[in-house]
Amino acid sequence: PLVYLNGAMMPLSEARISVLDRGFIFGDGIYEVTPVYRRRLFRPEQHLARFMRGMRAIDLQNPHDEAGWLGLMQQVVDAAPTEDQLLYMQITRGVARRTHAFPAQTPAPTVFLMSNPLLPPPPSVHEHGVACVTMEDKRWLRCEIKSISLLGNVLAAQNAAEQDANETIQFRDGYLTEGSASNVWIVKDGALISPPRDNLILEGIRYSLMEALCAEQNIPFAARRIARNEVFHADEVLLTSASREVMPVVTIDGERVGNGKPGPIYRKLYAAYQRAKV
Ligand code: PDD
Repeated sequence: PLVYLNGAMMPLSEARISVLDRGFIFGDGIYEVTPVYRRRLFRPEQHLARFMRGMRAIDLQNPHDEAGWLGLMQQVVDAAPTEDQLLYMQITRGVARRTHAFPAQTPAPTVFLMSNPLLPPPPSVHEHGVACVTMEDKRWLRCEIKSISLLGNVLAAQNAAEQDANETIQFRDGYLTEGSASNVWIVKDGALISPPRDNLILEGIRYSLMEALCAEQNIPFAARRIARNEVFHADEVLLTSASREVMPVVTIDGERVGNGKPGPIYRKLYAAYQRAKV
C-alpha cells in the first residue's frame, strides 16, 4: 500500500524517518483515525478539527490549511486498495537534537498518513455483545489531546487482551472515564449517559454524533459524572470509536450488564449509526 510521508506518496516499505524524530524520542505529536466508507471519509471536517485543535494545544506548527489536509487525506484514501478503510494520520514536532523543550529553531514537522482496510466488528458482536474488564485510569490529565504518547492506553488495552476482553473500562477516583481506545456510555431508564467532555477523556467524534442520534431517536441524553456502581448497575453499556462504531457490552469483570444481552437503546443507536454512514 502507498502511504504519505512529508510531501510524497511512497510504498509503506520505503517510508523512513529519523531516529531523532521527536515522535520517536518523546511521543511529541498528535494523531487522528478517520473511518472511510466506500472511499468517502466519514465526518472528515470533525476529525480534522480535532487534529488541528490538538496541534494548537501542544503549540505544533500546522503546515497545511484545512483544504490542504483534506486533499492529502483523500489522496491516501484513493490510493488504498479497499473501499472501506481506517485512515491514520499523525504529525510530530519533527527531527532535532534530543532536548525535552521545543527546539530553538522550529524543525519541519513530520507528517505521515496511511490507510488500512476497515474490518467492521463481526456479526457475533452485535448478536451477543462483548466482555469488558476494568482498571484504574492511570493516564495523565490531558486526555482531551489525541496524543501519540499512548503508553497508558497501551497498558489498558493489554490488560483487556490478557483477560480475553474486548476493552478495558477505566475509572479515575471512582468515576467512569473511557476505554483504552473508545468512549464508554451507560443506559439507565431509557436515557443515554456519558461522562462530561473535559480533560479526563478524549471527546470522540462519535460523542456529538451519539448526542445527535439520541435527539433524532427521542432518547434522553445527559453528560455527567458517572460513579463506578452506576456502571455496574446500568441497563446497558456501550462503547464507541472510529473502528468499533457502536458496540454493546454484556459483561464487565465477569458480571452481567442488564440482562446480559445487547439492549434496545443499543439497537436503535447502532441502526441510526449505520444509516448515518451512507
Ligand atoms: N481511538 N477515547 C480514546 C482514548 C480513543 O483512543 C478513541 C479513539 C476514542 C473514540 O474517539 P472516536 O469516536 O473519535 O474514534 C475515545 C482511535 C480509534 C484509535 O486510537 O485508534
